[in-house]
Amino acid sequence: MKCVPPASPSLVLVCGMHRKPGAQNPSCGPLGSEDLRRFLKQELKDRGLWRSQIRVATVDCLGVCSGEGVSLQFPGDERVWIVDAKGEKEQVLERVLSLLQPE
Ligand code: FES
Repeated sequence: MKCVPPASPSLVLVCGMHRKPGAQNPSCGPLGSEDLRRFLKQELKDRGLWRSQIRVATVDCLGVCSGEGVSLQFPGDERVWIVDAKGEKEQVLERVLSLLQPE
């Protein structure tokens, strides 16, 4: 094993799972996870925060699989959030930015 520093101090995880048609569980991917990840990445880049402060990574599954929205997890928060990737993307961005504000 080898240990290296992380690329960023914080990481947002976005579920990008795409299951095969007819799968037992629903998938977040078709509900807009990639568009949400790209939106967050661009907004964070525009603010000079990408990599230096935070990154957004796509993962296969966060284990919730609600089919009601895209599952994501914020740094330092053990809860999994289910969001409308289109309609709530600004709220997600606000939450991400609030995590980077000094207290
Ligand atoms: S498919 Fe997204 S949480 Fe499982």
